[in-house]
Amino acid sequence: MSDFDVQSIRNDFPILKRKVYDGKRLVFLDSAASAQKPRAVIDAVSHYYETTHSNIHRGAHALATEATDAYEAARKKVARFIGASLPEEIVFVRGTTEGINLVAQTYGRAGIEEGDEILITEMEHHANIVPWQMLCEEVGAKLRVVPVNDKGEFVWDEFERLLGPRTKLVAVTHVSNTLGTINPVRDIVEAAHRQDVPVLIDGAQAVPHMRVDVSVLDCDFYTFSGHKLFGPTGIGVLYGKEHLLRAMPPYQGGGAMIRSVSFDKTTFEDPPFKFEAGTPDISGAIGLGAAIDYVEKIGLQNIGEYENELVKYGQEKLRAIDGLRLIGTADEHASILSFVVEGIHADDIGRLIDREGVAVRVGHHCTQPLMKRFGVPATVRASLAFYNTKGEVDALVAAVRKAIHVMTRTCPIEHAEVRPSTESIDDTQDRIVREFSAITDWEERYQKIIDLGRRHPHIPEEYKQDKYIVRGCQSTVWLHAKLENDGRVTFTAESNAMIVNGLITLLLRVYSGRTIGEIIDTQPRFITEIGLSTHLSQARANGLAAMLEQIKNYAVVLKTLAAANRA
Ligand SMILES: Cc1ncc(COP(=O)(O)O)c(C=O)c1O
Repeated sequence: MSDFDVQSIRNDFPILKRKVYDGKRLVFLDSAASAQKPRAVIDAVSHYYETTHSNIHRGAHALATEATDAYEAARKKVARFIGASLPEEIVFVRGTTEGINLVAQTYGRAGIEEGDEILITEMEHHANIVPWQMLCEEVGAKLRVVPVNDKGEFVWDEFERLLGPRTKLVAVTHVSNTLGTINPVRDIVEAAHRQDVPVLIDGAQAVPHMRVDVSVLDCDFYTFSGHKLFGPTGIGVLYGKEHLLRAMPPYQGGGAMIRSVSFDKTTFEDPPFKFEAGTPDISGAIGLGAAIDYVEKIGLQNIGEYENELVKYGQEKLRAIDGLRLIGTADEHASILSFVVEGIHADDIGRLIDREGVAVRVGHHCTQPLMKRFGVPATVRASLAFYNTKGEVDALVAAVRKAIHVMTRTCPIEHAEVRPSTESIDDTQDRIVREFSAITDWEERYQKIIDLGRRHPHIPEEYKQDKYIVRGCQSTVWLHAKLENDGRVTFTAESNAMIVNGLITLLLRVYSGRTIGEIIDTQPRFITEIGLSTHLSQARANGLAAMLEQIKNYAVVLKTLAAANRA
């Protein structure tokens, strides 16, 4: 790996020079969601638009020919890159999601029937669950699921047990986006083929990190997204064996996929054109071609070795943090570091480390069944690429340590603050604004919200029911309303995320214990006046709006009920 120069690689990615939050250097650890783009990709796309753009395949002029050649050259490049025998086996799609939907809606609908089974795993991304569920519902087939063990590994014995005469397709991820587990896809294909069962591999998280050769894997379908491979968004690849693509009915109808159309009968092009109706993402394909050139220049072997070292380093450093649990510790592991911290919601960690300039993903990562398997609502996921450094992993670890300190340090005040019962709703808003105006630094304002959250009282267990959950919040929020005898409404609410509890404290100070009319008529001006509208993340702002809407909805419902009772 002596020729792997990460500093010079970083210089190829303009965005990595960015600063966030008043000059903090960006530590980008969210490449599994979407990877950053090297200058070569950005230039290829703008060069195409500056010099070549035209629609393809049907124009009879110089630009149309050049654009068509460039698009088809990208297809050939992809075919070579993943070891396909023919460029015709490469269908350009929008991304992995569309690749899987295409197979479900064509191959699946044509060949899978009532009583048949589709075999997936417990670690699939929703993109490799939902299209099969939809198909099963449509045709009466059944989805079977291979479980994962405590390390997040595919349980081979269960796979063999579930792979039976009714199995018509195996759909499995090559690398788990949440756990980092690398699945034994070559062996899976071999076992499935012994029973004549075709295999689709979701390669979204594999292709950016390792050499993939579909001729060695012998899989029937392989799909991935360009944007995770350092290419543009909006372009992806579905590889399918030629005889399968030929036999499959078209996906969408329209221009470019037909040979002839009359009102009596339409005939279709051969693959791949049969599956590419309408104007495709021409610049995306060209950008993807440039991304492939770029990673091949660095070398996938080098990339794999470098990232391996980085992920091991990260695991070791994170393991040393008290109370931190890594989720996904498979022996065969790619560039993902997923973890939870005991007693602290992943959302809170994510929010706090974001303020340090460290960008990670927090949530269920579109793998809700996997979260259930590990008994956690969400994880923090740092995902690494070859442009990351050990220094950045250190920054992540330091930020996590700091976040834990912030969340667990002893709180100076023991009990939740209560507002004087005589204070008007307007005065309460004024008081909140005064309290926050005294703090000029936003870090400290966050700290204050967290402190409020830590003092927020727990709600009775009987209120922690699904029917009280506020829809639209990233974390879970339970909100309960009670109409008191004096006509005021008492709200009780709690979240499993500390910062959200701080926001709840503020909302309830304003709205709880007020009359229905006051609740309906009062706008929460304090939210803008203390700067929450500009400083909260979009997800948090949406959550706050959802809580507020629910408070107002309760008031409207109570008003209607009161009117009905009077009538
Ligand atoms: C394993 C896996 N499959 C499928 C997808 C969906 O990819 P896209 O959104 O690019 O279609 C993702 C995206 O995160 C993924 O990680």
